[in-house]
Amino acid sequence: MNSNISALIANHNPGHALAQAFYNDAEIFQTDLQEIFYKEWLFAIPACELEKAGSYVTHQVGTYNVIIVRGSDNEIRAFHNSCRHRGSVICKAKKGNNPKLVCPYHQWTYELDGRLLWARDMGPDFDASKHGLKVVHCRELAGLVYICLADDPPDFEQFADVARPYLEIHDLSNAKVAFESSIIEKGNWKLVWENNRECYHCGGNHPSLCRTFPDDPSITGIEGGETPANLQAHFERCEQAGMPSTFHMSENGQFRVARMPLKEGAESYTLDGKTAVRRWLGQAAFADAGSLLKFHYPTTWNHFLADHSIVFRVTPISPTETEVTTKWLVNKDAVEGVDYDLKRLTEVWIATNDEDREVVEFNQMGINSPAYEPGPYSEVQESGVLQFVQWYLETLKRNSGPTAVAAE
Ligand code: FES
Ligand SMILES: [Fe+2]
Repeated sequence: MNSNISALIANHNPGHALAQAFYNDAEIFQTDLQEIFYKEWLFAIPACELEKAGSYVTHQVGTYNVIIVRGSDNEIRAFHNSCRHRGSVICKAKKGNNPKLVCPYHQWTYELDGRLLWARDMGPDFDASKHGLKVVHCRELAGLVYICLADDPPDFEQFADVARPYLEIHDLSNAKVAFESSIIEKGNWKLVWENNRECYHCGGNHPSLCRTFPDDPSITGIEGGETPANLQAHFERCEQAGMPSTFHMSENGQFRVARMPLKEGAESYTLDGKTAVRRWLGQAAFADAGSLLKFHYPTTWNHFLADHSIVFRVTPISPTETEVTTKWLVNKDAVEGVDYDLKRLTEVWIATNDEDREVVEFNQMGINSPAYEPGPYSEVQESGVLQFVQWYLETLKRNSGPTAVAAE
């Protein structure tokens, strides 16, 4: 990390928004990719998206393109989408199904587990076993697929061990993607996160979400404080019914799980607050179990409800553009038009995403002004944003090694 960035980190005014450069500077964007997105575990897809052997998706993260594919042994693996011959992309599409991975250039053919199976006219000395696809670390956690681009990935188990029991009751391996949307928000990826981590903006911007989602800061951001009695009662009610629910924040602040209540009487993110899917995904004990809120920086926040689940993925595109992909997961046996109406299932979060896109874009636009000066976060309303910014700065320092620390 260069000394300018180290100085900016060192000069950060605690409790305040970040300096302008963190939100629009090309060099800091590269540093974010290098030190965070190329080193941390990243949520990629729900496992159910790879329906059978040979199903694959490709995912672009910075300059890396990754193939995530289900093998004939049912295992999900990830590989760099770059042929071991002369480097061509192997899978051109965003998703598909192939019995083998065949490079479109000279048809080198790889097994679904990455081994090179066939390469024409490469001579007697050619060793196919040395030309398998390069592996990207890949883990499946209770139906969610994470990848890590680092050669030596950080620990995943600590997160997996905490999150697994919370997730398992949602039975994501028996899900299907009912709908997905990808939008590009013209804002830095950190603005997308900052916006996600507070509901200070909800009342003024999210009329449909606010019908069911409480914008009470004690529910949306208890990281620093006490658990209020009504929340504790909700945790206990759910836990007694077999649903792990208690608020858990990881020590380094990278992830959190907590099953939060929705507004009184609400069951799901629909306009009338009732469930959207008749055939539930998972084994929630009751309809008003609330929403299991999980986030894992830097790529995902999720809502797991009694009837369906929603997974979000954040992908930085440029210093001032971020892709937000949302997937609505329902029971694989639920039939559209019978068990659920697609519009009713998706309309609240489609509207909410668009409203969030707009506030993020205006936030970015205002920050780009030379007059921008980082203002203070509200400790009451924005403890989650403070927590995110702290995680970001600490992770940047830690991952970029001793040079950055020495420069402080
Ligand atoms: S680049 Fe893939 S076969 Fe030649
Ligand atoms: Fe929002």
